[in-house]
Amino acid sequence: MNVKSKIEQLRQQIHDANHAYHTLDQPLISDYNYDLLLNELIQLEQEHPEFFDATSPTQKIGGYVLDKFEKVTRDVPMMSLSNVFNQEELFKFIERIEEVTSSEYIIELKIDGLAVSIKYEKGLFKQAATRGNGLVGEDITHNVKTIKSLPLKLSEPITIEVRGEIFMPHKSFLKLNEQRKRNEEPLFANPRNAAAGTIRQLDSQIVADRELDIFVYAIVDPQSYTQSHKDALALLKKLGFKVNQHATHTMNKEDVWKTIQKFDQLRKSLPYDTDGAVIKVNAYDKYDMIGYTAKSPKWATAYKFQAEIAETTIQDITFQVGRTGVITPVAELEPVSVSGTTVSRATLHNEDYITIKDIRIGDTVRIHKAGEIIPEVIEVVLSERKNQPPFKMITTCPVCGASLERIDGEADHYCTNDSCEAKHIGQLIHFSSRVAMDIDSLGEKVVETLFEKGYTKTITDIYHLHQYREELKILPGFGDKKVEKLIEAIEQSKKQPFHKVLFGLGIKHIGAKVAKILVNYFKSMDAMLEANIEDIQNIHEIGPEIAQSIFSYLRNEENITHIQKLIELGLQFQVENQVIKEHQFNGKTFVLTGKLESFSRDQASEIIESLGGKVTSSVSKLTDYLLAGSDAGSKLKKAESLGVTILNEATFKDIIHE
Ligand code: IVH
Repeated sequence: MNVKSKIEQLRQQIHDANHAYHTLDQPLISDYNYDLLLNELIQLEQEHPEFFDATSPTQKIGGYVLDKFEKVTRDVPMMSLSNVFNQEELFKFIERIEEVTSSEYIIELKIDGLAVSIKYEKGLFKQAATRGNGLVGEDITHNVKTIKSLPLKLSEPITIEVRGEIFMPHKSFLKLNEQRKRNEEPLFANPRNAAAGTIRQLDSQIVADRELDIFVYAIVDPQSYTQSHKDALALLKKLGFKVNQHATHTMNKEDVWKTIQKFDQLRKSLPYDTDGAVIKVNAYDKYDMIGYTAKSPKWATAYKFQAEIAETTIQDITFQVGRTGVITPVAELEPVSVSGTTVSRATLHNEDYITIKDIRIGDTVRIHKAGEIIPEVIEVVLSERKNQPPFKMITTCPVCGASLERIDGEADHYCTNDSCEAKHIGQLIHFSSRVAMDIDSLGEKVVETLFEKGYTKTITDIYHLHQYREELKILPGFGDKKVEKLIEAIEQSKKQPFHKVLFGLGIKHIGAKVAKILVNYFKSMDAMLEANIEDIQNIHEIGPEIAQSIFSYLRNEENITHIQKLIELGLQFQVENQVIKEHQFNGKTFVLTGKLESFSRDQASEIIESLGGKVTSSVSKLTDYLLAGSDAGSKLKKAESLGVTILNEATFKDIIHE
């Protein structure tokens, strides 16, 4: 290949990777491979200035400014850090400093999230912005506000700008992806992408639900506040910020190295992702002496931890069928140990993903755990390839044999058979899941058994199961107690509110949130059935795709008969209006704070909403009630100062039970 074509190919590859990463939040290649491509392109462009192109991805290095949000231009640009990858480079970095002045160092974990700068005026939260290209960032104030560990009021009325890293803890990440899987939405590849995708949401309620967190690690213009970084961290903590507790004060380069090695062990057990350690000179009066390069300070650097990568072979590519009929290819791997667990399968997402990476059965591949959690194929080791044929997407459903279709503009293939067993089982599992009808004893295994034995082929069959009590009790693994418990749970599920039932029906694109919006708007299935497509599209937050989906579903005879049967069986297909109008919470605005004993936050919010109230994330003059659990902090203080009615958990319970 000539140089010009090579440059063009690299630009295209990087462009595709950028789009997948920044716009879709679904990275195509690992960061490591991205850097390799980019470095190769930079070098070729330097050697061949005749091929300069202003639209080359190299012209954009340094970050992206999004269009969705207001721009924020800062006085002090957010710099980035140089990197070192091994002991030798680290020691060189320290020796260069020591040539200028002797130093002590603070070593911090490098949190793998996204950088943010936050301004406070007289102790009050004012504005938060992303890094963007360093000088111009995006205003994400309304989203950052929802981060629970970030104080909106500091312990002192100080005017200050701080910087930190927003991240998604493993627990929230797993919960979010589980939810997305149930809704058959694309999964986030790792916590960092999930955090980035979340902070770019226009609806801050979604952000609040996704549980982001933040560590603050620096003060802008720090010398106006303290003399050393150690003191700055202590000040940040005192002001009420969450500061990472592992920051370590070290005296010399051997100490620095020991701490970094300790961190590399420690990171495996942390509940959030880290990708390195940051080494910072402690004394601020030495910063100017040590100096800066154009992009980064010389008094700090990032030591990058090596991601654990393993090689294994792809023994087979199998296919899973989801409840909407979506087909997911899965790599069946020769089991191999990576980052502490044995990995034997990795999702391959869809046909395009496999084609772009040119993954074939029999290939040797390099895998890692994205965000230390999800096994992922990074790349094929091409030198090991024998003569395996390229991957070919299947054309028929692996479960029922019906033909598959791929809709224009979508990456996924779907089974076209409405009576495909896999779809039915998937639908039953979804219907009974905790987030829908919450039939606790009807888990995946039980659903599969009852389906295979012919007891439950459709959702309505679930509500006839009590007629087969005695037969069920003699099924292997069932027994008296279990069957009675199951039947009781099924009976109880009839009380689940309308929006859960609607979500449970498993209509394409109707996730839990959309179901709630539809139910709040229409109040009853009757009203929903009467609506035309424009009525649905006109609802705020409902797009054309969702509107079309629900509309077509409700124009299908079979679906209507199905709903009719469920209504006769006693499931909720309307909002209980009367209760709402009479209740003292109706129309009131709530904020929740502190730790509740008897409910999760989600449960408490649901109760409030079911009584006609609204839950928001921050206390203002418009707040009617603050529900305060134990350890309530700044929100409680603010509510008190604004004269908001404060309910403790016991009073709240009394009122809802009235
Ligand atoms: S200090 C002058 N400390 O790593 C730069 N950065 O390239 C000051 N990061 O953009 C950055 N944890 O997003 C610093 N403890 C930490 C950090 C940290 C994560 C991120 C940050 C920054 C990037 C450095």
